[in-house]
Amino acid sequence: MTFEKGQTLELEITDLAFGGKGIAKLDGLTVFVDNGLPGDRVSARIAKKRKRYLEARIVDLLSPSPDRIDPACPYSGCCGGCRCQALSYEKQLAYKRQHVVDAFAHIGGIRDVPVNPVLPAQRVFEYRNKMEFSCTDRRWLLPGEMKDGISDAGFALGLHAPGTFYKVVDIDACLLQPPEGNQILCAVKDYMKNSGLPPYGIRSHEGFWRFLVLRHSEARDQWLVNMVTASENPAVIKPLAELLIKQHPKIVSVVNNITARKSGVALGDYELLLAGERFLVERVGRYEFEVSANSFFQTNTRGAEVLYDTVRRYAGLSGTDTVLDLYSGIGTIPIWLSDAAARVTGIEVVETAVADAEKNCRRNKISNCRFVLGDIRKVLSGIVERPDVLIIDPPRAGMHKDVVKQLLAMAPKRIVYVSCNPASLARDAGLMKEDYQVTEVQLVDMFPHTYHVESVAQMERNIRR
Ligand SMILES: C[S@@+](CC[C@H](N)C(=O)[O-])C[C@H]1O[C@@H](n2cnc3c(N)ncnc32)[C@H](O)[C@@H]1O
Repeated sequence: MTFEKGQTLELEITDLAFGGKGIAKLDGLTVFVDNGLPGDRVSARIAKKRKRYLEARIVDLLSPSPDRIDPACPYSGCCGGCRCQALSYEKQLAYKRQHVVDAFAHIGGIRDVPVNPVLPAQRVFEYRNKMEFSCTDRRWLLPGEMKDGISDAGFALGLHAPGTFYKVVDIDACLLQPPEGNQILCAVKDYMKNSGLPPYGIRSHEGFWRFLVLRHSEARDQWLVNMVTASENPAVIKPLAELLIKQHPKIVSVVNNITARKSGVALGDYELLLAGERFLVERVGRYEFEVSANSFFQTNTRGAEVLYDTVRRYAGLSGTDTVLDLYSGIGTIPIWLSDAAARVTGIEVVETAVADAEKNCRRNKISNCRFVLGDIRKVLSGIVERPDVLIIDPPRAGMHKDVVKQLLAMAPKRIVYVSCNPASLARDAGLMKEDYQVTEVQLVDMFPHTYHVESVAQMERNIRR
């Protein structure tokens, strides 16, 4: 059978790919279907033709999957924020687990890993404590709008369309954040539109307004607002900070990060404090943490507690063990483990995160944690004490292979690997499988309605080594 771009096919969707697309099989070929769910029968148009697979878009939902539900969000299907809202939560969890099992088998070459069922999120909406909204000079139109001849397509502040860095869907409310965050989003958007300054063009690299980042402390019900701009302009930014503080007394911090970088990352080259403090205070379990605008902090506060309890259980500390925590952020895991270990050393590359980690130890009266600032690849060789237990919680890309080599040489008796990306976890576990056996994996759902899941893998050193 031959296929052409633009051709319409009738398909039965049988699986869900990591990334959220439906999978159908046709004549030995895999077809990835945007917004397709397992159990759907659809008529779909081929959007891309590749040698080994096709990509298609639904034209008609002929018979819906029994697992389909009505998504609560009006942007569902168009916004890349959450791609699985139309799938029942129970099924979302089942597919997340399957993706981890498949990644271990196909990427890591490790079969029969005991992967426990996913621990569900306590809340499936309003769970995010941080949102990053992007500005653009070319709004991505929603399907209904394309027919209507919209004129104001020149500005958007919102979230990216699925799988794109340059298409921004203008958003008035995101159900993943608490409602006051949406009021702040709309107030900032109004101000930006009337400021006389242009939004930053993701392709032209010209313009002023780049990102709006909101952080929320659930414990104190307080907000941090971070405006990321391409240059300094106090005459425009200061009045916005004053307006926000006046309209929203729960805002306790307004900062302006300035960046000349072309990359679409909401980080500043430097930061100006406009109002309040430079940080929020959040509580996880019995510990308090200071979180500044550019430091990493788990985006689901309630989920973080479940995650760190799992890390603690898998670490199995005796009270006399020494622990090395790679990618330690603002010190959350070292602090969580501090009362069960002799000493904990964290390594982290972001200077403000290390400063936050040290402050967080003082705030929680913890004296057996220390932090090393630097790129793990470079500073790991300077760690002379061999840790009993190693904790790893890298960014999505996982570990550099030099880091894997160095930690294998350290030979801790146990490793606990925390990961938000099953593919890089499986790859790294595959690189370590001669020396370490994956004894158990616990999944924690920190990101309902998205295809993301947090995994915690316990790895024990092989006896013969
Ligand atoms: C997924 S976060 C984990 C943070 C922390 N464990 C937590 O739960 O809050 C990864 C952290 O690794 C840091 N990081 C990224 N690349 C690094 C590197 N090459 N060397 C050291 N730290 C790095 C990031 O700044 C970030 O704080």
